Amino acid sequence: MSREIDFQQQNLSQENMSRVHSMSAGKKYFIFTYGCQMNTHDSEKLAGMLEEMGYGAAAHKEEADLILLNTCCVREHAEIKVYGNLGALSQQKRQNPKLILGVCGCMMQQADVADAVVRRFPAVDLVFGTQNVHDFPTLLLGVLNGRQHQVEVSSRAQDEVVEHMPVRREISSHAWVTIMYGCNNFCSYCIVPYVRGRERSRAPEAILAEIHELEAQGVREITLLGQNVNSYGNDGGNLHFAQLLETIAQECDKIIRIRFMTSHPKDLSDELIDVMSRYEKICKQVHLPVQSGSDRILKEMNRRYDHQRYEQIVSALREKMPQVGLTTDVIVGFPGETEEDFEQTLELFRRVRFLSAYTFKYSRRTGTAAAEMAKQIPVEVKKERLARLNALQKEITQQVHQEMVGKVLRVLVAERNPRSAALMSGQADEGYRVTFQGGEELIGQIVNVRITAARQASLLGERI
Ligand code: 5AD
Ligand code: SF4
Repeated sequence: MSREIDFQQQNLSQENMSRVHSMSAGKKYFIFTYGCQMNTHDSEKLAGMLEEMGYGAAAHKEEADLILLNTCCVREHAEIKVYGNLGALSQQKRQNPKLILGVCGCMMQQADVADAVVRRFPAVDLVFGTQNVHDFPTLLLGVLNGRQHQVEVSSRAQDEVVEHMPVRREISSHAWVTIMYGCNNFCSYCIVPYVRGRERSRAPEAILAEIHELEAQGVREITLLGQNVNSYGNDGGNLHFAQLLETIAQECDKIIRIRFMTSHPKDLSDELIDVMSRYEKICKQVHLPVQSGSDRILKEMNRRYDHQRYEQIVSALREKMPQVGLTTDVIVGFPGETEEDFEQTLELFRRVRFLSAYTFKYSRRTGTAAAEMAKQIPVEVKKERLARLNALQKEITQQVHQEMVGKVLRVLVAERNPRSAALMSGQADEGYRVTFQGGEELIGQIVNVRITAARQASLLGERI
């Protein structure tokens, strides 16, 4: 289990926050967030700290006094976007030299990338990594005091977790709750274990205390977050993931929905499936990245399951929860992937029939095992395979949606439909977006909706 550092008890951060406050009241901030939900939640912490330091949210980047880029390095595409944006923001700073520009997140946790950013973009004032988010006030104070290029990208002790950071959440009824940090899996293509460090589980008491606080603030739906949530507690805690999930379902009365992501097939236990099926408030949705349908490629990826084991898990989930919404991640064009390997992925997609899939072209990440592998696949081949896979998944999504017609789904009503004032929209237990006729008084409630028609990205229905 991790060692807790209490942000509120850290005199240095508290003192520095109030010093920044005295210099920054009325100033505005803007945050660009790239990548996954972990980053989205880190941005909520950065916004929380900024608001405690007297900053307010800017409606757009042009009116900001401080701009942060919370970066992602999982694929090259995200990095290219960051460099492009840094070019544009450097220009903005030429027009407004007082603008403070900061870059943080996974890209910056790689020391050579952080160095390169500072060298290539002199307009950047501060840089910090994923493991130094709590150092942000101290670095910002340094910049305000005239010190240039404040950089902190050191790795923390491997077992530390910082608790009680301020958080500013975007939506009031839903909250992300991180239950663990880091990843131990070292899938051969993936940079995450290098930039997010080893697995560190938060103490169950700290997680429960946070959720109780959220309940008091009106939150009704939570998503438990971790790179690999179902290895929660493997670093020496007294609860493993299924037990934590059950404890939350039992003890948090005001929470009416619990989701979690991401699950690794090798750690998805029968006990978890059992707990999911026993509690109505645990949503019947699982994001279960398969990555490939070829056993040879799965082995090269170091995924530690084969297609048969994966499909066994799918069958076990569907046996207990026939309507379960299954989504996945998949990579095409991993080094050495033959046409035959790729066809096995297509075949697996046809058999499993996911509700939706995040599909990626393999992206070579320096420092990972796969980057050194022979037989890197040409980009045209990757593109062509991705297009074929996307076309297949589109067809499957359409069919899966069509099969929902006539069924009744439990929908948590979220908002008025932006395109039609008479319609309300929300999310079903299983993850489907559902639209139906209704009024604003239903927002925040769970209603039963019979599905009457299927669209590509959503379902239409009527309340019963
Ligand atoms: N190239 C392409 N996709 C990747 N992912 C992780 N690393 C890479 C990479 N190097 C994908 C995986 C993972 C998702 C978050 O990103 O599918 O599940
Ligand atoms: Fe990356 Fe694999 Fe860890 Fe997911 S489980 S974060 S793909 S190393």
